[in-house]
Amino acid sequence: MARIGLLTGGGDCPGLNPVIRGIVRKGINTYGHELYGFRRGWKGVLDNDAIELTLENTSGILHTGGTMLYTSRTNVYKTENGEERVLASLKERGIDVLIPIGGDDTLGVARKLNAAGFPTVGVPKTIDNDIGGTDFTFGFQTAVQIATDAIDGLHTTAESHQRVMVCEVMGRHAGWIACHAGIAGGADVILVPERPFDLDDVCNHLRHRHETTGKHFSVVVVAEGATLAEGGDMATSEHDALDSFGHVRLGGIAFQLEKEIAERTGYEVRATVLGHIQRGGTPVAFDRVLGTRFGVAAIDAASNGDFGMMTALQGTSIGLVPLDEALKEPKLLDPELFKTAEVFFG
Ligand code: F6P
Repeated sequence: MARIGLLTGGGDCPGLNPVIRGIVRKGINTYGHELYGFRRGWKGVLDNDAIELTLENTSGILHTGGTMLYTSRTNVYKTENGEERVLASLKERGIDVLIPIGGDDTLGVARKLNAAGFPTVGVPKTIDNDIGGTDFTFGFQTAVQIATDAIDGLHTTAESHQRVMVCEVMGRHAGWIACHAGIAGGADVILVPERPFDLDDVCNHLRHRHETTGKHFSVVVVAEGATLAEGGDMATSEHDALDSFGHVRLGGIAFQLEKEIAERTGYEVRATVLGHIQRGGTPVAFDRVLGTRFGVAAIDAASNGDFGMMTALQGTSIGLVPLDEALKEPKLLDPELFKTAEVFFG
């Protein structure tokens, strides 16, 4: 029996509650652990703000989006005496092992804490699907489904008005959401950060489609982090501020594309930015199952002394990978997948 702490950090993500439920259910029923959930990510550990997690208060959350523990983007290592404060809170509460559930930023803090001697087990989370060492992160499939449904919606209005619809999706510097939703939604052009694009090529694809296929409408899916081949700042919007992990806030490239494509082609163009809708709502079944499997695997790892590790989906199995290895670099879009998408451009 041990006292285990958990937290959810970074952007929220459909599937976080299933992870929490999985950890608590197996932690109590199989191991007899006591579980504490720190609120608002690392901020909760810095402030020693936690609640006891029980079978009762983690029941009925499987199908719910968001996180019952709340979240924040708090960088312990950018906070004065951050590590000391975290270690003091954990000691005060008698926590033996900490399970941070988050993306590369949250898990980066976990890795440092583990290196500093505090036992941690990570659970990877992000709709962006850009964490190394795992084939998928939960939340990604939900985001892809939401984006695909939106693209389906844009198709009918694009066809009625014979317009070009530009749909911007999230994903930060990875094109996973754009590529998957673009393929699933039958996009005519997909723009991803991994493949800086040329505006003339984009317009040529659209002209080719409108002039030779009898279709006088198109759908362009653009990742928020896509960039122009010749450089320029189309990837970033008016948001200049950086978060505590040094990330710029993305969003708005669709509006710039709307203007540029309209000017160059003479077609009517409209932009839609899906934004946080992609992170909201209920998790699809895949993410509930993956979240549950990660939660159960994380409490097993915490109980078996597999510290400094992260749960991972490897093919169809759940395994563990060292945090050091998983966080070496972000997992960018598979070029083979993009090649498949390109077959349908123009
Ligand atoms: O990492 C998940 C994500 O949704 C990215 O796709 C996006 O760029 C970012 O978070 C948005 O962050 P915030 O919710 O802080 O605006």
